[in-house]
Amino acid sequence: MMEKNLKVEYLTDSFVVETADALKGEADTAVSVLCGGTLDFTGWVGYAGSRSEEYISEIERVAESIRRDSDVLVVIGIGGSYLGAKAAFDFIDRADSKLPGDYPEIEFAGFNLSGTYHARLVERIKGERFSLLIISKSGGTVEPSMAFITLKALLKEKYGEEEAKKRIYAITDKKTGKLRKESDEAGYQTLVLPSDIGGRFSVLTPVGLLPLAAAGVDIRQILAGAKSAESGELLEAAKEFAAVRKVLGEEKKVQAIAFFEPSVEAFTAFLMQLFGESEGKDGLGTLPVGVGVSRDLHSLGQFLQEGSQIFYETLLFVEEPTLEINISSGNEDALYAGKSYSDFNRAVLEGMVFAHREADIPIIKVSVPDNSAYSFGQLVYFFEMTCAVTGLLMGVDPFNQPGVEAYKKGMLDYLGKK
Ligand code: PA5
Repeated sequence: MMEKNLKVEYLTDSFVVETADALKGEADTAVSVLCGGTLDFTGWVGYAGSRSEEYISEIERVAESIRRDSDVLVVIGIGGSYLGAKAAFDFIDRADSKLPGDYPEIEFAGFNLSGTYHARLVERIKGERFSLLIISKSGGTVEPSMAFITLKALLKEKYGEEEAKKRIYAITDKKTGKLRKESDEAGYQTLVLPSDIGGRFSVLTPVGLLPLAAAGVDIRQILAGAKSAESGELLEAAKEFAAVRKVLGEEKKVQAIAFFEPSVEAFTAFLMQLFGESEGKDGLGTLPVGVGVSRDLHSLGQFLQEGSQIFYETLLFVEEPTLEINISSGNEDALYAGKSYSDFNRAVLEGMVFAHREADIPIIKVSVPDNSAYSFGQLVYFFEMTCAVTGLLMGVDPFNQPGVEAYKKGMLDYLGKK
């Protein structure tokens, strides 16, 4: 089957694309640096496309063991140890990707410190056959640790100490951290998050792949999609988009990322992390903000059209949505008669582009072919590369996050635990 590729269109003043063209040499150098293997935390570059059969089968084997004895899998993590899996889980149409069989429901925990959220989760799962998947590279992040303590206690109460250990799966560093130590001592089944891949660049590793495989997604399709973006026209497209973002980012302080399908909302949150945590440092960067269409056109839409022009827009549009409803051609209201939701979703896109170009807002449209696992893999790698190249063009280190530590220190100081 001939797979379709995502497409990028620049609906901006021509000087933006021309100025970005002048950065082509620098963007090429940035990609060479990323691919060169000399920069720390670039293990994600070309990672998906080079996975061996043995590597993929091992993830599928662990997923199968989760499936055998669980009706619910609780995936515990935050940041890069949560957002990518959540994005994939919401984005991928499982009717298209699902392998035959029965699959556990997936719940997420450990990305907030809400007692209400976790108490409700305990209520929801305590009568079910459940297992835990704890994901933490460092192994010591407070939010997932708290959820793990809570849910591990529930697991032990329900199954006893020994059976509980068999129902805990961990993804963490190969050697270091509290979670590695606990996993080795207790004998949890573990998969490794490579030490040269940071959290927000880890969705195409077991961090994203194991929960998805457990949920029945064909992870081979995700990897194939990612591989298709590792070279050729999509790599060129990522470089170009990175240069355009660098140019726009010098003037515009916000990147509004609009999505037109609820299935893309979590992917937008993933992009907010990817761009925000990779580029927002040294007093630089554009603030990524998600905009749900049509919902937010009836709120932020006013600001976008007539407010302070501090932003540019990236539109994420799925060309072939999963399901459709057609309004009967006999409908009494001629506006709707014979039309589908897709017709109207495309009309809102076109209407938004028309109105926002009238207001001189720079727009980059990313057309996503569909909600397949393949498209998801392609999108992830395309945006990871775009983000890393933009960061290098800006002169920041896209792979660190020193600012994230500040709140953690404040929280631990408050708790009296330095
Ligand atoms: O991108 C990152 O590195 C962060 O968002 C981390 O993923 C997040 O802070 C969670 O860290 P950990 O996986 O160590 O618990």
